[in-house]
Amino acid sequence: MTIFVTGGAGFIGSEFIRQIVGTARIINFDKLTYAGNLDNLKEAAKDPDYSLAVGDVCDPQALEAAMPEDCDAVVHFAAESHVDRSIVGAAEFVRTNVLGTQMMLEVARLRRVKRFLHISTDEVGGDMPPDGWFKECDPLEASSPYAASKGAAELFVRAAARTFGMNTLITRTSNNYGPYQFPEKLLPLAISNVLEDRPIPVYGDGLQVRDWVHVTDNCRALRAVLEHGRPGETYHIGGGNPLPNIEVLRTLLKILGKPESLMTRVTDRPGHDRRYAVDFTKTTRELGWRPEISFSDGLAQTIRWYQDNAEWVRRCRSGEYRKYYEEMYGDREATAKAL
Ligand code: NAD
Ligand code: TYD
Repeated sequence: MTIFVTGGAGFIGSEFIRQIVGTARIINFDKLTYAGNLDNLKEAAKDPDYSLAVGDVCDPQALEAAMPEDCDAVVHFAAESHVDRSIVGAAEFVRTNVLGTQMMLEVARLRRVKRFLHISTDEVGGDMPPDGWFKECDPLEASSPYAASKGAAELFVRAAARTFGMNTLITRTSNNYGPYQFPEKLLPLAISNVLEDRPIPVYGDGLQVRDWVHVTDNCRALRAVLEHGRPGETYHIGGGNPLPNIEVLRTLLKILGKPESLMTRVTDRPGHDRRYAVDFTKTTRELGWRPEISFSDGLAQTIRWYQDNAEWVRRCRSGEYRKYYEEMYGDREATAKAL
């Protein structure tokens, strides 16, 4: 089986590759933006059936060159993924997340790929009321430019299934956490700051609710959907345990024995959704998947990982991880061009 993974050097894509390496031929197509980190794939990259193609999902020629004729499945992770960055500048989100998804669909159709799994987010449903749970059939009501771009991408995936009969699947996952997450999202930022006794920025009142799912559980679900999901369907993946940010941060500080005074209120994010919560009963019913890692175990394990991998965080923060080209090819000019 040949699987074409986009965005495999990112947080979730690299966990997916770590899980499937050795079971399939993997082509990891990644532009290696600031979020793409080859340090995440050091072990997986040793497998002879793994290869990396550096390229942009918006570039159909690069995609055609990298995607083999006998490609069985595409798993499309590549995206701009951080809400705060989408507020500062949405254009790159529209380009990569919307145009990039359409280019992926076109090249996958040309190659007659048998399965196209598109990775989406619970954020496309927007704010959930206090007792609301986002279902697969609910309308798309995105609040941020990031969520809007992911919602638009979903519509192109649906259109490809309907118009061209492509065998597509969509997953919408809640907030992932775990090892190798770039320290700009809440948990890795908070953990790495606290480990250095630096403050944690808490947006607004900190009572916004997120449904945390461990990245290992998420990627198990993605594999189940890829293998057994019904063509054209959407599947939700969640942790089943929505929590206010402030409670998550209190637990984190308690585990590390640090004072709550490290939480520092800062101006709220514009358009900040108050609550996300996904109903994933369909995924459990049809595929037998449910999360296995409790939030308390997963958080403790994640904190340990960041403690044990201070060098990974240091390389992220210093930008050293981006010297990949130089390290691989020893070519300063190529590095400069690629960056
Ligand atoms: P990430 O930001 O860690 O990684 C994104 C990856 O995509 C990087 O390797 C980057 O280099 C690559 N990439 C970006 N633009 C590209 C382009 N134009 N061409 C090729 N590669 C490009 O993201 P993540 O957190 O691993 O998220 C992966 C997917 O899951 C995204 O589609 C995201 O929307 C979705 N998702 C993430 C979460 C979460 O909590 N992180 C939750 C739900 C859904
Ligand atoms: P984030 O990790 O950016 O994920 P998302 O916005 O996609 O849910 O943020 C998670 C929650 O934490 C969200 O409610 C915003 C909040 N947050 C903070 O309070 N402080 C921070 O420094 C960050 C990055 C996020």
